[in-house]
Amino acid sequence: MITPPRAVRDRILSLSPTELPSYVSDLAALRAHAASVRAALPDRVEMYYAVQANGEPEILAELGPYVDGYKVSSGVELDHVAESGVDRPRDFGGTEKTPTELADALERGVTRFHVESEYELYMLAGLAQRHAPGRRVAVLPRFDLPVPGGLLTEDGGACATTSGLDPARADIIVGLLTDGSYPSLELRGVHAHLANGVHAGEHLALAESVVAWTVELAARNGLRLAEVDIGGGMAVDYDRPERRFDWDAYGKGLARLAAAHPELTLRIEPGRALTAYCGWYASEVLDVEHGSSEDFAVIRGGAVHLRTPATGRHDQPWSVLEVEPWPYSWPRPVVRRERATLTGQLNTSQDVLVRGVRAQGLRAGDRVVFSLAGAYISPAPHRAHDRYPEPRFHFLDAGADGDRSR
Ligand SMILES: Cc1ncc(COP(=O)(O)O)c(C=O)c1O
Repeated sequence: MITPPRAVRDRILSLSPTELPSYVSDLAALRAHAASVRAALPDRVEMYYAVQANGEPEILAELGPYVDGYKVSSGVELDHVAESGVDRPRDFGGTEKTPTELADALERGVTRFHVESEYELYMLAGLAQRHAPGRRVAVLPRFDLPVPGGLLTEDGGACATTSGLDPARADIIVGLLTDGSYPSLELRGVHAHLANGVHAGEHLALAESVVAWTVELAARNGLRLAEVDIGGGMAVDYDRPERRFDWDAYGKGLARLAAAHPELTLRIEPGRALTAYCGWYASEVLDVEHGSSEDFAVIRGGAVHLRTPATGRHDQPWSVLEVEPWPYSWPRPVVRRERATLTGQLNTSQDVLVRGVRAQGLRAGDRVVFSLAGAYISPAPHRAHDRYPEPRFHFLDAGADGDRSR
C-alpha cells in the first residue's frame, strides 16, 4: 500500500460520491520530481517528455521548465501542448502518422520528425515541399535495432518489437536522405525506443549500444550524425513502487557516454517515469460480493478509467480512506474474508485492479485510492485517442425504409 500525501487525501475525502471516480494530480510533487530528474541528467542530455503518457495541458505546463521539449505522437497531442501555453520544441514520433497529421505538424513548425517506415519517409518528403516550403525538415529515422528477442521489458525479458525501420536497410535509408533524393529533408541522427519499464543499468546499456550503432553507421557512410534519441521506457515498478528508476546512476552513465561522443547530442523521451508517481485515481467501494471462494470489492469505475493493471498485468498499488458514517438504513457490505479482489464495475476478468489482497473489513462507501496513476491510466489516454474518431454505427435494414447511421 502507498499512503497518499495529506493534500491528496483531504481532497479525495472532500469529494462527494457523485464526483467519484476522480483523477487527482499532485502538481507540487510533479514539479519536485521533474526537477530532481532534470538535476540528475548532464546538461548535454536533452529530455523531451513523451506526451502520450499523460497529455493533460496542466501536466504539460508544470513540466515545461524541466524539459527541453515534448515528444508528441498525434495531432491531438500537439493541440494539448499548444493548450499548455508552453512554447518548446516538439518532436513528432509515433507509428502510422496520417498524411493530414504530418501536413498539419509541418505547418505548425514541429522541430523534428521520427520516421518509422520507408513509406513515411516518402510521404514526409512529398508533404514537406508543399507544407514547409523553403525549410529543411529535420528527420531522425527510428530503427528497430536488435535487442535480444525484441523490446526489452521490465522483467529483463523481451517482447516483440513494435515499430521502426529495418536496421539492415539503414545504409539505403541514410543514402536516400543524403544523396539529394529528398532535398526537403535533413538527416539529423537516429531514434530508437527499445525499452519498456527498464531500470537504469539496463537502460544505460541500451543507450550505449544505440550510440555505438549510430557511430558505426555514420562512419560506414562517411556522414556526420549529430543526434541520438534513445527513447523512453524508464521503469515504474508497480509491484515494488519504492524501487524507483535510479536517475542519478543513469545521469552519471549518460554523462560518461556524452563525454565519449562530444559530437553527439543525446536525447531521452521518458513519459511514465515522469508522471506516474504524481497521479491518483480515487473512487469508492460500491458493493462487496461474497463468491464461493473469494470476496470481491466492486469499485465505482475501474478498468474503464484505470487501464494500467490490465495492460501491465500487475496489481495497482492502493490504499483505503475509511468513511464514516454509513448514511443508509440498509446494512453496509463488508469484506469478511482475510483477502479480497478489487474489481471495477464491469466486473469481468479484464476489470481486475488488485488481486487477492488483504482487505478484511473494507466496506462499501470507503474510499479507495490507487497510486502510480499519473500515466497511461485511461483507455483513451488523455484524449490522445481522439486521433481515432469513434467508429460510427450503421444500421442496415434491407427491405425496410432505408439504412440509418449515427
Ligand atoms: C517512441 C516512444 N517514445 C517514448 C515513449 C514513452 O515511454 P514511457 O512512457 O514508457 O517512458 C513511448 C511509449 O510507448 C514510445 O513509443
